[in-house]
Amino acid sequence: MSDRTPLMAGNWKMNLDWKQSLALVEDLGGQLKGKDLGGVEAAVLPPFVNIRTVQTAVDAGKLPIAYGGQDLSAHESGAYTGEVSGPMLTALGCTYVAVGHSERREYHGETEQVTNAKVNAALAAGLTPILCVGEGLDERKAGKQVEYTLAQVEGGLEGLTAEQVGGLVIAYEPVWAIGTGEVATPDDAQEVCAAVRDWVRTAHGDQAADAVRVLYGGSVKSSNVAELMERPDVDGALVGGASLKAEEFAKIVGYRAA
Ligand code: 13P
Repeated sequence: MSDRTPLMAGNWKMNLDWKQSLALVEDLGGQLKGKDLGGVEAAVLPPFVNIRTVQTAVDAGKLPIAYGGQDLSAHESGAYTGEVSGPMLTALGCTYVAVGHSERREYHGETEQVTNAKVNAALAAGLTPILCVGEGLDERKAGKQVEYTLAQVEGGLEGLTAEQVGGLVIAYEPVWAIGTGEVATPDDAQEVCAAVRDWVRTAHGDQAADAVRVLYGGSVKSSNVAELMERPDVDGALVGGASLKAEEFAKIVGYRAA
């Protein structure tokens, strides 16, 4: 087992209004609080408008849950209608922010340059980016999953120092496994997560490679998380659908106890 702290992050996507978010975080917190989680860290990424509610519940209940945004602006402030900046998230007590999720890339045309600018904006605001990468079905069928994913890693991390890279979270989320119920096999996840770490080792050295956390995402559930986590280069999971149910997500976070 590595020294890296496993991270289970729930990406709520565009689900739940503020009252539902409050109910979910309180329920989840109640299930996690006081439990021996075996050193596993839990985080949730609510929609922007619900982060304040989550902050209040986490603070009031001293819940063992970190939280963050699903996206952020590449800009720090100013005339960017509809956007939310890194400093705004920091001021709400956010730890993490997802960057370059495949749904941002696909539906909002986010390029490698935009993703790289957002990673930098997150770091400048003191947030830990969760850089999301992963191939589509065509690349997978062509056996190009490693090459495609590493190109996204390289683009997203351009210009970063080894120290910055070591502090990051990188989430390998093959697009064909997201929301489809079709989870990658542990071998598939390990193959690409190991390749990501090897890339970091070559580009930024041993310290960064040994510290960077590489998560797997795509149809993770309580029934498949343990076998994914057995693989040496899988340091956690980015969970969509299964993070919307407190009991199920608590089981995922508690996989070591199960
Ligand atoms: P699912 O867990 O619903 O497949 O979603 C994965 C995901 O996109 C998390 O960011």
